[in-house]
Amino acid sequence: MTAYRAIQLERFAPSFRKAADIIVLPRRAPGPGEIAVRNLWCGVNGIFDTQIARNAVDYVKIKPPTITGVEAIGVVESVGAEVEGLQEGDAVATVRFGGGYREANTGAASQFAKVPGPEREWLALASTGVSALLALDVGEAKAGETVAISAAAGGLGHFVVQLAKNRGCKVVAVCGGARKGAFLRSLGADRVIDYKSEDVAEVLSAEFRDQLNVAIDTVGGEIFDAFVANLAAHGRLVAAGAAQDLEGKPEVVTAPRIVHKLYYKGASVRGFMNGLLTERWPAAREALFDLYRQGQLKVAFDDQVFEGLPHVYDAVERLLSGQSMGKVIVNLAP
Ligand SMILES: NC(=O)c1ccc[n+]([C@@H]2O[C@H](COP(=O)([O-])OP(=O)(O)OC[C@H]3O[C@@H](n4cnc5c(N)ncnc54)[C@H](OP(=O)(O)O)[C@@H]3O)[C@@H](O)[C@H]2O)c1
Repeated sequence: MTAYRAIQLERFAPSFRKAADIIVLPRRAPGPGEIAVRNLWCGVNGIFDTQIARNAVDYVKIKPPTITGVEAIGVVESVGAEVEGLQEGDAVATVRFGGGYREANTGAASQFAKVPGPEREWLALASTGVSALLALDVGEAKAGETVAISAAAGGLGHFVVQLAKNRGCKVVAVCGGARKGAFLRSLGADRVIDYKSEDVAEVLSAEFRDQLNVAIDTVGGEIFDAFVANLAAHGRLVAAGAAQDLEGKPEVVTAPRIVHKLYYKGASVRGFMNGLLTERWPAAREALFDLYRQGQLKVAFDDQVFEGLPHVYDAVERLLSGQSMGKVIVNLAP
Protein backbone atom coordinates (compact mmCIF):
# COMPACT_ATOMS: atom_id res chain seq x y z
CA MET A 1 0.00 0.00 0.00
CA THR A 2 1.68 3.23 -1.13
CA ALA A 3 -1.33 5.49 -0.61
CA TYR A 4 -4.41 5.36 1.59
CA ARG A 5 -7.73 7.12 2.06
CA ALA A 6 -8.86 9.24 4.99
CA ILE A 7 -11.85 11.46 5.73
CA GLN A 8 -11.02 15.09 6.23
CA LEU A 9 -13.24 17.83 7.61
CA GLU A 10 -12.94 20.49 4.89
CA ARG A 11 -15.56 23.01 5.99
CA PHE A 12 -18.32 23.53 8.54
CA ALA A 13 -21.70 22.38 7.24
CA PRO A 14 -25.04 21.09 8.58
CA SER A 15 -24.03 17.43 8.20
CA PHE A 16 -20.86 15.37 8.40
CA ARG A 17 -21.46 14.22 4.80
CA LYS A 18 -21.43 17.81 3.57
CA ALA A 19 -18.53 18.89 5.77
CA ALA A 20 -16.02 16.10 5.16
CA ASP A 21 -14.40 14.69 2.01
CA ILE A 22 -12.34 11.62 1.25
CA ILE A 23 -8.71 12.45 0.56
CA VAL A 24 -5.82 10.26 -0.58
CA LEU A 25 -2.52 10.47 1.25
CA PRO A 26 0.85 8.84 0.63
CA ARG A 27 2.03 6.22 3.09
CA ARG A 28 4.91 7.47 5.15
CA ALA A 29 7.69 5.37 6.69
CA PRO A 30 7.88 5.71 10.47
CA GLY A 31 10.51 8.08 11.88
CA PRO A 32 12.16 7.70 15.29
CA GLY A 33 9.57 6.90 17.95
CA GLU A 34 6.88 6.20 15.34
CA ILE A 35 5.03 3.18 13.98
CA ALA A 36 3.16 2.64 10.70
CA VAL A 37 -0.22 0.95 11.08
CA ARG A 38 -2.68 -0.55 8.60
CA ASN A 39 -6.14 0.04 10.07
CA LEU A 40 -8.77 -2.70 9.91
CA TRP A 41 -11.79 -1.24 11.76
CA CYS A 42 -12.87 2.18 12.92
CA GLY A 43 -15.42 3.07 15.56
CA VAL A 44 -18.02 5.69 14.66
CA ASN A 45 -18.98 8.64 16.87
CA GLY A 46 -21.75 10.08 14.74
CA ILE A 47 -23.02 12.53 17.32
CA PHE A 48 -19.61 14.06 18.01
CA ASP A 49 -18.84 14.07 14.25
CA THR A 50 -22.03 16.03 13.58
CA GLN A 51 -21.40 18.48 16.39
CA ILE A 52 -17.90 19.08 15.01
CA ALA A 53 -19.18 19.37 11.40
CA ARG A 54 -21.61 22.07 12.54
CA ASN A 55 -18.94 23.89 14.57
CA ALA A 56 -21.51 23.56 17.31
CA VAL A 57 -19.31 23.08 20.33
CA ASP A 58 -17.56 26.19 21.58
CA TYR A 59 -15.45 24.12 23.92
CA VAL A 60 -13.89 22.01 21.15
CA LYS A 61 -11.28 23.93 19.19
CA ILE A 62 -11.24 21.93 15.97
CA LYS A 63 -10.89 23.74 12.66
CA PRO A 64 -10.83 22.41 9.07
CA PRO A 65 -8.91 21.01 7.37
CA THR A 66 -8.39 18.14 9.76
CA ILE A 67 -8.63 14.38 9.48
CA THR A 68 -11.59 13.16 11.51
CA GLY A 69 -12.60 10.09 13.47
CA VAL A 70 -11.21 9.02 16.79
CA GLU A 71 -11.10 5.23 17.13
CA ALA A 72 -9.33 2.64 15.00
CA ILE A 73 -7.68 -0.73 15.36
CA GLY A 74 -5.09 -2.22 13.06
CA VAL A 75 -1.82 -4.05 12.65
CA VAL A 76 1.69 -2.62 12.91
CA GLU A 77 3.39 -2.80 9.51
CA SER A 78 6.72 -1.21 10.39
CA VAL A 79 8.44 0.21 13.42
CA GLY A 80 10.78 3.23 13.58
CA ALA A 81 13.96 3.54 15.63
CA GLU A 82 13.70 3.93 19.41
CA VAL A 83 10.28 2.28 19.68
CA GLU A 84 10.03 -0.15 22.55
CA GLY A 85 7.37 -2.76 23.23
CA LEU A 86 5.84 -2.87 19.73
CA GLN A 87 6.81 -4.91 16.71
CA GLU A 88 5.62 -5.69 13.21
CA GLY A 89 2.41 -7.73 13.29
CA ASP A 90 1.22 -6.45 16.68
CA ALA A 91 -2.41 -5.35 16.95
CA VAL A 92 -2.80 -1.77 18.16
CA ALA A 93 -5.73 0.53 18.86
CA THR A 94 -5.79 4.30 18.92
CA VAL A 95 -8.36 6.59 20.52
CA ARG A 96 -7.25 10.09 19.49
CA PHE A 97 -8.97 12.73 17.38
CA GLY A 98 -7.68 12.36 13.81
CA GLY A 99 -6.79 8.71 14.29
CA GLY A 100 -10.12 7.13 13.36
CA TYR A 101 -11.36 7.65 9.79
CA ARG A 102 -8.25 6.59 7.93
CA GLU A 103 -7.09 3.36 6.33
CA ALA A 104 -3.56 3.76 7.60
CA ASN A 105 -1.69 5.84 10.13
CA THR A 106 1.94 6.66 10.81
CA GLY A 107 2.47 8.40 14.12
CA ALA A 108 4.04 8.43 17.55
CA ALA A 109 4.00 4.96 19.11
CA SER A 110 2.73 6.59 22.31
CA GLN A 111 -0.58 7.29 20.51
CA PHE A 112 -1.27 3.57 20.12
CA ALA A 113 -2.03 0.85 22.66
CA LYS A 114 -1.09 -2.76 22.12
CA VAL A 115 -4.24 -4.90 22.22
CA PRO A 116 -4.72 -8.68 22.23
CA GLY A 117 -5.77 -8.90 18.56
CA PRO A 118 -7.00 -6.88 15.59
CA GLU A 119 -10.65 -7.97 16.04
CA ARG A 120 -13.36 -5.34 16.37
CA GLU A 121 -14.21 -6.42 19.94
CA TRP A 122 -10.88 -5.14 21.27
CA LEU A 123 -11.50 -1.80 19.55
CA ALA A 124 -14.94 -1.41 21.13
CA LEU A 125 -13.54 -2.29 24.56
CA ALA A 126 -10.49 -0.01 24.26
CA SER A 127 -12.58 2.98 23.16
CA THR A 128 -16.23 2.97 24.20
CA GLY A 129 -15.72 0.36 26.92
CA VAL A 130 -13.11 2.56 28.59
CA SER A 131 -15.48 5.54 28.41
CA ALA A 132 -18.25 3.49 30.03
CA LEU A 133 -16.06 2.26 32.85
CA LEU A 134 -14.58 5.69 33.58
CA ALA A 135 -18.01 7.36 33.45
CA LEU A 136 -19.13 4.94 36.19
CA ASP A 137 -15.95 5.70 38.13
CA VAL A 138 -16.59 9.45 37.86
CA GLY A 139 -20.08 8.70 39.21
CA GLU A 140 -18.49 6.59 41.99
CA ALA A 141 -21.08 3.86 41.42
CA LYS A 142 -20.99 1.28 44.22
CA ALA A 143 -22.63 -2.07 44.95
CA GLY A 144 -26.22 -1.72 46.09
CA GLU A 145 -26.72 1.67 44.46
CA THR A 146 -29.30 2.52 41.82
CA VAL A 147 -27.82 3.69 38.51
CA ALA A 148 -29.89 5.27 35.74
CA ILE A 149 -28.54 5.30 32.18
CA SER A 150 -29.85 7.10 29.09
CA ALA A 151 -29.33 5.88 25.49
CA ALA A 152 -28.74 2.62 27.34
CA ALA A 153 -28.86 0.34 24.28
CA GLY A 154 -26.19 2.34 22.44
CA GLY A 155 -22.48 1.75 22.12
CA LEU A 156 -21.61 3.45 25.38
CA GLY A 157 -24.86 2.61 27.13
CA HIS A 158 -24.76 -1.15 26.68
CA PHE A 159 -21.34 -1.24 28.33
CA VAL A 160 -22.46 1.02 31.20
CA VAL A 161 -25.47 -1.24 31.87
CA GLN A 162 -23.33 -4.37 32.08
CA LEU A 163 -20.55 -2.78 34.11
CA ALA A 164 -23.05 -1.33 36.58
CA LYS A 165 -24.70 -4.76 36.99
CA ASN A 166 -21.24 -6.22 37.39
CA ARG A 167 -20.61 -3.82 40.30
CA GLY A 168 -23.81 -5.01 41.99
CA CYS A 169 -25.92 -1.97 41.14
CA LYS A 170 -29.62 -1.83 40.32
CA VAL A 171 -29.94 -0.52 36.76
CA VAL A 172 -32.65 1.72 35.34
CA ALA A 173 -32.15 1.82 31.57
CA VAL A 174 -33.77 4.46 29.37
CA CYS A 175 -34.09 3.79 25.63
CA GLY A 176 -36.33 4.39 22.62
CA GLY A 177 -38.18 1.32 21.34
CA ALA A 178 -39.26 -2.19 22.29
CA ARG A 179 -36.40 -3.88 20.42
CA LYS A 180 -33.88 -1.91 22.48
CA GLY A 181 -35.85 -2.68 25.64
CA ALA A 182 -35.63 -6.43 25.04
CA PHE A 183 -31.89 -6.13 24.39
CA LEU A 184 -31.40 -4.23 27.66
CA ARG A 185 -33.36 -6.82 29.64
CA SER A 186 -31.10 -9.50 28.15
CA LEU A 187 -28.13 -7.54 29.55
CA GLY A 188 -29.64 -7.56 33.03
CA ALA A 189 -31.30 -4.13 33.29
CA ASP A 190 -33.73 -4.18 36.24
CA ARG A 191 -36.15 -1.56 34.91
CA VAL A 192 -36.29 -0.50 31.28
CA ILE A 193 -38.04 2.77 30.50
CA ASP A 194 -38.93 2.97 26.82
CA TYR A 195 -39.51 6.69 26.35
CA LYS A 196 -41.54 5.98 23.23
CA SER A 197 -44.24 4.30 25.31
CA GLU A 198 -43.66 5.71 28.82
CA ASP A 199 -42.96 9.16 30.24
CA VAL A 200 -39.47 9.04 31.78
CA ALA A 201 -40.12 11.80 34.33
CA GLU A 202 -43.39 10.19 35.47
CA VAL A 203 -41.91 6.71 35.81
CA LEU A 204 -38.89 7.97 37.72
CA SER A 205 -40.93 10.06 40.11
CA ALA A 206 -43.43 7.20 40.68
CA GLU A 207 -40.90 4.38 41.08
CA PHE A 208 -37.53 5.96 41.86
CA ARG A 209 -38.32 9.22 43.62
CA ASP A 210 -35.09 10.49 45.30
CA GLN A 211 -33.52 7.08 44.66
CA LEU A 212 -31.00 7.60 41.85
CA ASN A 213 -27.59 7.35 43.45
CA VAL A 214 -25.94 7.70 40.05
CA ALA A 215 -27.24 8.78 36.65
CA ILE A 216 -25.12 8.58 33.50
CA ASP A 217 -26.65 10.83 30.87
CA THR A 218 -25.55 11.19 27.24
CA VAL A 219 -28.82 12.59 25.90
CA GLY A 220 -29.55 15.82 27.83
CA GLY A 221 -32.79 17.79 27.62
CA GLU A 222 -35.78 16.38 29.46
CA ILE A 223 -33.99 13.16 30.37
CA PHE A 224 -31.27 15.16 32.12
CA ASP A 225 -33.99 17.14 33.92
CA ALA A 226 -35.78 13.95 35.01
CA PHE A 227 -32.53 12.46 36.31
CA VAL A 228 -31.71 15.63 38.31
CA ALA A 229 -35.20 15.69 39.80
CA ASN A 230 -34.88 12.14 41.13
CA LEU A 231 -31.34 12.09 42.50
CA ALA A 232 -30.94 10.49 45.91
CA ALA A 233 -29.22 12.19 48.82
CA HIS A 234 -25.57 12.49 47.70
CA GLY A 235 -26.67 11.42 44.20
CA ARG A 236 -24.24 12.01 41.33
CA LEU A 237 -25.39 12.88 37.82
CA VAL A 238 -22.64 12.35 35.25
CA ALA A 239 -23.06 14.57 32.17
CA ALA A 240 -21.36 12.42 29.53
CA GLY A 241 -22.94 13.66 26.30
CA ALA A 242 -25.74 15.72 24.79
CA ALA A 243 -27.16 13.78 21.84
CA GLN A 244 -30.37 15.77 21.89
CA ASP A 245 -28.49 19.00 21.43
CA LEU A 246 -26.58 18.71 18.18
CA GLU A 247 -26.55 22.47 17.74
CA GLY A 248 -24.55 22.94 20.94
CA LYS A 249 -25.14 26.64 21.24
CA PRO A 250 -27.03 28.15 22.82
CA GLU A 251 -27.72 25.49 25.45
CA VAL A 252 -31.49 25.77 25.76
CA VAL A 253 -32.77 25.55 29.33
CA THR A 254 -36.17 23.88 29.51
CA ALA A 255 -36.49 23.67 33.29
CA PRO A 256 -35.96 26.01 36.24
CA ARG A 257 -32.46 26.32 37.67
CA ILE A 258 -31.46 23.24 39.61
CA VAL A 259 -29.66 24.66 42.63
CA HIS A 260 -32.38 23.64 45.12
CA LYS A 261 -32.60 20.12 43.70
CA LEU A 262 -28.89 19.64 44.31
CA TYR A 263 -28.29 21.68 47.45
CA TYR A 264 -30.79 20.11 49.83
CA LYS A 265 -29.77 16.60 48.82
CA GLY A 266 -26.03 17.23 48.79
CA ALA A 267 -26.23 15.95 45.23
CA SER A 268 -23.95 16.88 42.37
CA VAL A 269 -23.69 17.12 38.61
CA ARG A 270 -20.28 16.26 37.20
CA GLY A 271 -18.96 16.25 33.68
CA PHE A 272 -17.22 13.28 32.14
CA MET A 273 -14.82 13.69 29.21
CA ASN A 274 -12.86 10.57 28.41
CA GLY A 275 -10.12 12.46 26.56
CA LEU A 276 -9.19 14.25 29.80
CA LEU A 277 -8.50 10.99 31.64
CA THR A 278 -5.82 9.41 29.45
CA GLU A 279 -3.68 8.42 32.44
CA ARG A 280 -6.51 6.10 33.53
CA TRP A 281 -6.92 4.36 30.17
CA PRO A 282 -4.32 1.56 30.51
CA ALA A 283 -5.76 0.19 33.76
CA ALA A 284 -9.34 0.58 32.50
CA ARG A 285 -8.47 -1.26 29.29
CA GLU A 286 -6.90 -4.18 31.11
CA ALA A 287 -9.86 -4.43 33.51
CA LEU A 288 -12.26 -4.55 30.56
CA PHE A 289 -10.18 -7.06 28.62
CA ASP A 290 -10.20 -9.33 31.70
CA LEU A 291 -13.98 -9.06 32.12
CA TYR A 292 -14.44 -9.85 28.42
CA ARG A 293 -12.10 -12.84 28.53
CA GLN A 294 -13.93 -14.15 31.61
CA GLY A 295 -17.27 -13.88 29.79
CA GLN A 296 -18.56 -11.23 32.20
CA LEU A 297 -18.87 -8.52 29.57
CA LYS A 298 -20.47 -8.81 26.14
CA VAL A 299 -19.59 -6.59 23.20
CA ALA A 300 -22.63 -5.92 21.02
CA PHE A 301 -22.39 -4.45 17.54
CA ASP A 302 -25.16 -2.88 15.56
CA ASP A 303 -26.52 -5.35 13.01
CA GLN A 304 -26.02 -2.89 10.15
CA VAL A 305 -22.76 -3.78 8.38
CA PHE A 306 -20.59 -1.05 6.86
CA GLU A 307 -17.81 -2.16 4.52
CA GLY A 308 -15.14 0.32 3.47
CA LEU A 309 -14.11 3.84 4.46
CA PRO A 310 -16.65 5.59 2.15
CA HIS A 311 -19.39 4.02 4.27
CA VAL A 312 -18.36 6.02 7.35
CA TYR A 313 -20.87 8.64 6.16
CA ASP A 314 -23.69 6.05 6.19
CA ALA A 315 -22.55 4.84 9.61
CA VAL A 316 -22.66 8.38 11.01
CA GLU A 317 -26.22 8.73 9.70
CA ARG A 318 -27.17 5.34 11.12
CA LEU A 319 -26.08 6.57 14.57
CA LEU A 320 -28.08 9.76 14.18
CA SER A 321 -31.17 7.79 13.13
CA GLY A 322 -31.62 6.49 16.68
CA GLN A 323 -32.05 2.98 15.21
CA SER A 324 -28.63 1.55 16.03
CA MET A 325 -28.09 -0.84 18.91
CA GLY A 326 -24.65 -1.57 20.34
CA LYS A 327 -21.45 -0.18 18.88
CA VAL A 328 -21.41 1.13 15.30
CA ILE A 329 -18.21 0.33 13.42
CA VAL A 330 -16.88 0.27 9.87
CA ASN A 331 -14.71 -2.42 8.31
CA LEU A 332 -11.77 -0.55 6.75
CA ALA A 333 -10.32 -3.61 5.01
CA PRO A 334 -13.29 -5.52 3.57
N1 LIG B 1 -18.03 12.06 27.45
C1 LIG B 1 -17.28 11.25 26.76
O1 LIG B 1 -16.06 11.20 26.91
C2 LIG B 1 -17.95 10.38 25.75
C3 LIG B 1 -17.30 9.25 25.26
C4 LIG B 1 -17.99 8.45 24.35
C5 LIG B 1 -19.27 8.81 23.93
N2 LIG B 1 -19.83 9.95 24.42
C6 LIG B 1 -21.17 10.36 24.04
O2 LIG B 1 -22.02 9.33 24.44
C7 LIG B 1 -23.10 9.22 23.55
C8 LIG B 1 -23.20 7.81 23.09
O3 LIG B 1 -22.26 7.56 22.07
P1 LIG B 1 -22.41 6.29 21.17
O4 LIG B 1 -21.44 6.47 20.04
O5 LIG B 1 -22.31 5.09 22.01
O6 LIG B 1 -23.85 6.51 20.57
P2 LIG B 1 -25.14 5.62 20.81
O7 LIG B 1 -25.56 5.78 22.20
O8 LIG B 1 -24.88 4.25 20.29
O9 LIG B 1 -26.21 6.21 19.78
C9 LIG B 1 -26.93 7.31 19.99
C10 LIG B 1 -28.23 7.01 20.73
O10 LIG B 1 -28.55 8.17 21.46
C11 LIG B 1 -29.94 8.29 21.56
N3 LIG B 1 -30.39 9.63 21.17
C12 LIG B 1 -31.16 10.42 21.92
N4 LIG B 1 -31.40 11.57 21.30
C13 LIG B 1 -30.78 11.51 20.11
C14 LIG B 1 -30.70 12.40 19.00
N5 LIG B 1 -31.29 13.61 19.01
N6 LIG B 1 -29.99 12.02 17.91
C15 LIG B 1 -29.39 10.82 17.88
N7 LIG B 1 -29.43 9.93 18.92
C16 LIG B 1 -30.13 10.27 20.01
C17 LIG B 1 -30.56 7.21 20.67
O11 LIG B 1 -30.96 6.14 21.52
P3 LIG B 1 -32.38 6.14 22.28
O12 LIG B 1 -33.39 6.61 21.28
O13 LIG B 1 -32.55 4.72 22.66
O14 LIG B 1 -32.23 7.06 23.43
C18 LIG B 1 -29.40 6.76 19.81
O15 LIG B 1 -29.54 5.41 19.39
C19 LIG B 1 -22.86 10.25 22.45
O16 LIG B 1 -23.62 11.40 22.75
C20 LIG B 1 -21.40 10.52 22.55
O17 LIG B 1 -21.07 11.80 22.08
C21 LIG B 1 -19.20 10.72 25.32
